[in-house]
Amino acid sequence: MSILNDLSKDTVIFISGTPCTGKTTVAANLNDYLLDNEFDSKLIKINDFAIENELVLGEDPDKFYKIIDIDGLNECLNKEIDQNSNDVLIVEGHLSHLCEGADKMIVLRLNPSILKDRLEERNYSASKIQENLEAEALAVCSAEAYEIYGDEVSEIDASDKSIEEIRDLILAIASGNIECPIGSIDYMEWLLNQ
Ligand SMILES: Nc1ncnc2c1ncn2[C@@H]1O[C@H](COP(=O)(O)OP(=O)(O)O)[C@@H](O)[C@H]1O
Ligand SMILES: [Mg+2]
Repeated sequence: MSILNDLSKDTVIFISGTPCTGKTTVAANLNDYLLDNEFDSKLIKINDFAIENELVLGEDPDKFYKIIDIDGLNECLNKEIDQNSNDVLIVEGHLSHLCEGADKMIVLRLNPSILKDRLEERNYSASKIQENLEAEALAVCSAEAYEIYGDEVSEIDASDKSIEEIRDLILAIASGNIECPIGSIDYMEWLLNQ
């Protein structure tokens, strides 16, 4: 409970990361946990939010992802943040780190050897799997998040951790109890063994 005691009632937490690192699962667990503990918490899935706000510009040629108007998304999301200024807001999704407005910008990282199995289960094509694995090994999300948030970006290594353990780490970061700056997670070994 001590972590929750230190959590400000209006914290805005963004959770990003390569597809299949666990964003949706962990964000839902975190939101439920906060609601169970009498926080007014709201979860925004950024892809759904973009569709609801008609910010889809098109689809990539492989139809694996939608092309989103990021400037429009940033604007809509920040209006939503302003309208929910008394609540905890959790924004999850692979586009969240391209938007402003987070008090805590958290990137979930996952060892590519574990990520590979998850991507295969989701029936991604071989080329999309490879692209995502390399993006994860090279920390592309974290680097992009750094462009907006600089040293404020936190990374969690989700490899071999339960959803509850990851949730508690997010809470510890969000409440200022721990710092997990980018730079210590290194999957280069995986890349070199390709
Ligand atoms: N900590 C975890 N341990 C084991 N499996 C996990 C964990 N987090 C997520 N998963 C599983 O990995 C898959 C991808 O998770 P998901 O939350 O959909 O990822 P994302 O939203 O980042 O694409 C799901 O099948 C989910 O059940
Ligand atoms: Mg997801």
